[in-house]
Amino acid sequence: MKEGIIRIENLTKIYTMGEMKVNALRGVSLKIDEGEFVAIMGPSGSGKSTLMNIIGCLDKPTSGSYMLDGIAINGLGDNELAEVRNKKLGFVFQSFNLLPRIPAVEQVELPMIYSGVANRRQRAMEALAMVGLSKRAGHKPTELSGGEQQRVAIARALVTNPSIILADEPTGNLDTRVSEEIMVLFQELNGEHGITILMVTHESDIGAHTKRRVNVRDGRISSDELVESPLQATERLKTMPKPESENGNGENGIQTGSAAVAGR
Ligand SMILES: Nc1ncnc2c1ncn2[C@@H]1O[C@H](COP(=O)(O)OP(=O)(O)OP(=O)(O)O)[C@@H](O)[C@H]1O
Ligand SMILES: [Mg+2]
Repeated sequence: MKEGIIRIENLTKIYTMGEMKVNALRGVSLKIDEGEFVAIMGPSGSGKSTLMNIIGCLDKPTSGSYMLDGIAINGLGDNELAEVRNKKLGFVFQSFNLLPRIPAVEQVELPMIYSGVANRRQRAMEALAMVGLSKRAGHKPTELSGGEQQRVAIARALVTNPSIILADEPTGNLDTRVSEEIMVLFQELNGEHGITILMVTHESDIGAHTKRRVNVRDGRISSDELVESPLQATERLKTMPKPESENGNGENGIQTGSAAVAGR
């Protein structure tokens, strides 16, 4: 039996605010294998982000155990947690989290500066090529569309060759077509490059692109099921009207398959 790249058992998280305690997680157990593409769904306040933050080593649980790729995360200090984050995980957020005045290529270089990697420019350009944005490398966030900004953020998450991508509402600020383009990218990263993806979403349409749907309710997992035939984003995209600005230069849309892979 496979060990599971993520294995959490009986996780709880209590936030204490003065006299008040919030039971954000009330005993969550979850095993995720390498190569899975999982949607985490559930109502607002049910504990999805809390769970993702713990899985992402950004926060610690109150109790319970967490193994990530064979490493016992519970016993680690802050520096070791940061190291695990850098080596294994890539993050994508709803609000892109880009720095305002910096060109795309430099945003993508940032995680490599923290970890002291060489060939940073080349690797950043390869990651931008993977998300179909080579021609926007010199653009600052204000000079990019929302979908392009999210693709820069995905390139930044990819550039360190993570085994897992954690995405919290990655399409929350994007319209339908652009969301579908992000799903094209995620399905390609998962299907062709074998990257394990965990994605929080409250949109059932977006969740239907994954292979497995985990529902969280009131701090617990309420259901966990395989998605029988996931929606295929490349197919769906063909049925959606193209935006007015599309000028056919080959880099406005997502390139599938042919793009360079950063070190994989
Ligand atoms: N830092 C914090 N301090 C105190 N309480 C918190 C904190 N973060 C979250 N909570 C509380 O924990 C519960 C779970 O929050 P969480 O952010 O995990 O929900 P969520 O499922 O991600 O919701 P949403 O869909 O709105 O993003 C909520 O009741 C929330 O108010
Ligand atoms: Mg949340």
